[in-house]
Amino acid sequence: MEAEKDVLILAIESSCDETAAAVVKNGREVLSNVISSQIALHTLYGGVVPEIASRKHIEKINDVIQEALKKAMVSLGDLDAVGVTYGPGLVGALLVGVAEAKAISYAAGLPLIGVHHIEGHISANYIEHKELEPPFVCLVVSGGHTHLVVVKDYGVYEIIGKTRDDAAGEAFDKVARAIGLGYPGGPKIDKVSKEGNPDAIHFPRAKVEDSPYDFSFSGVKSAVLNHINGCRMKGETIVQADIAASFQKAVCEVLVSHALEAVRAYQIPKLALAGGVASNSELRFMMKEACRKEGIPLYYPSPVLCTDNAAMIGAAAYFEYRRGVRHGLDLNAVPNLKLGER
Ligand code: KG4
Ligand code: ZN
Repeated sequence: MEAEKDVLILAIESSCDETAAAVVKNGREVLSNVISSQIALHTLYGGVVPEIASRKHIEKINDVIQEALKKAMVSLGDLDAVGVTYGPGLVGALLVGVAEAKAISYAAGLPLIGVHHIEGHISANYIEHKELEPPFVCLVVSGGHTHLVVVKDYGVYEIIGKTRDDAAGEAFDKVARAIGLGYPGGPKIDKVSKEGNPDAIHFPRAKVEDSPYDFSFSGVKSAVLNHINGCRMKGETIVQADIAASFQKAVCEVLVSHALEAVRAYQIPKLALAGGVASNSELRFMMKEACRKEGIPLYYPSPVLCTDNAAMIGAAAYFEYRRGVRHGLDLNAVPNLKLGER
């Protein structure tokens, strides 16, 4: 029997504040993964400034792509397709990647595959876990999304739970700002929590009435703000590490309990984590413990593949390519694209 031909995909990601390009072989092998982060720039403003993000993407994107091709030791002629994030995200930022991908697709005569950013995050799990195949349950926790998703097949998703207000990463970022840790908040809370007592303050673990898989993080965020105000009024010192650790525990407990509830109820005994918050060390630890107790295999990507990158977009693009998905040169950025929409 003839061996299946390798599929090489150049992937581009520019939905927020990372300009990224990667070359991925057969969806699971990363030949290069180049990320140019704008974090230092946005730190000056305490968060991502969309206009600045778009301008920086334009400045960086050609170099990032050149470097990705060089590191992978391939030229455009070796590629089988170009994959690009076309939503959701900041529209100006997305447009840079989409326009670039269309130009390369046209100039090199390559098929174009638009990828949903969250599908990318989920697909990051396929890279380091060669044996992982759908169906599985995936907890997607990023700066913009908190979703519980049943991955029924490659590219086939059912969202069973969502946040009603803030995303988990957004809550980390807001709480970090409130306690003076600055941007980006998630990694800073993760770090400072290691010196704090997670049981020092009891913050609420919100349940959403009648929706066992939905989330709400605005309550815990308000509770942190109230605690800080209370301390100030009473002239008590604000113990940053204790607040961070207690907040982190409250959020992680809810994420773990909802995810395991979904695994049990849907009888799909396989759980994956995805998105920037999936690199949180406490979440990984608590989830590992909970899954070990119940005998559920747990998957999560390395931290560099949890936060925004293009390798995950290349992985997702490959499975879409295999399903026959192709986009035309009229592909546009869709800032509020829904998972599963085309
Ligand atoms: O997936 P991502 O890179 O971008 C989006 O698609 O949003 O996620 C970024 C989010 C930010 O809110 C950031 O604070 C959070 O992920 N994050 C973390 C950690 N690393 C990144 N949150 C908690 N702990 C971390 N170690
Ligand atoms: Zn992301």
